[in-house]
Amino acid sequence: MAKNKLGRYAEVEVLPNVTEVSELGMWKGLDETFWLQIFGVESLDLTLELACGKGEYALALAQRYPDRQFIGIDIKGERLWRGAKEALDLGLTNLHFLRVYIDHMELYIPEATVDEIWIPFSDPYLKQGKESKRLTSPRFLAEYHRILRPNGIVHVKTDSPELADYTREQIGEGLAECAWDVPDIYACGAGEAGGAGMSPEECSRRGIPIELLTVQTHYEKKHIASGRTICYIGLRPTRLALAHYIPLK
Ligand SMILES: C[S@@+](CC[C@H](N)C(=O)[O-])C[C@H]1O[C@@H](n2cnc3c(N)ncnc32)[C@H](O)[C@@H]1O
Repeated sequence: MAKNKLGRYAEVEVLPNVTEVSELGMWKGLDETFWLQIFGVESLDLTLELACGKGEYALALAQRYPDRQFIGIDIKGERLWRGAKEALDLGLTNLHFLRVYIDHMELYIPEATVDEIWIPFSDPYLKQGKESKRLTSPRFLAEYHRILRPNGIVHVKTDSPELADYTREQIGEGLAECAWDVPDIYACGAGEAGGAGMSPEECSRRGIPIELLTVQTHYEKKHIASGRTICYIGLRPTRLALAHYIPLK
């Protein structure tokens, strides 16, 4: 097993559950049967984890829902390697990783096949002029609208108040509908549940997936340890977002 970063970069290229840009060709779309072959199913019922890093959400969900298919997407091979190795060790055949830029997702993810998109702790790109890189910017919402099925949902988990407010602005502009906005998931029960944070029961009563509480990613653990507040926004992109679609050149 590759122990160092370079070794993991090299090994990720040959893992059977990772597909890389280099294999696909940067601007070459996938054959429409690609995912059906990968997952060995007749129709797709996809959940994506974007900016997945080590893929904690995809790993947890793929174990819990063996009849659904999961794709983790990140550009950093060394992080994907960890998730991909764990998936192989667990024998998961319903989870695959893509080492591509999320910006190029339209080449890889078929239209109207996705039920859920998890976006845990994506980079907030706080520098002026970098807003369009945020994964809740209008051009990404347009792409999510294309790949989501009707009533599909995007789960955004973040420690960044700026990213949370920016996401709320897109909702305010009508580019997405807000399903849930929980500004502080571990203390939001202060009013409703006696200050102990949101309980699993509270989560389930509100119809929020329990994995919001039961899965903590690498970055989430770091943020919690440094005392940061964890916010969750569940949203559904609207047709208005489509006006912001930017075609790939
Ligand atoms: C802060 S880390 C979070 C990783 C993981 N979700 C977690 O919570 O531990 C952000 C991740 O997003 C990935 N990323 C950022 N922008 C990306 C893009 N445009 N395409 C693919 N990956 C991207 C980075 O490689 C990095 O692994």
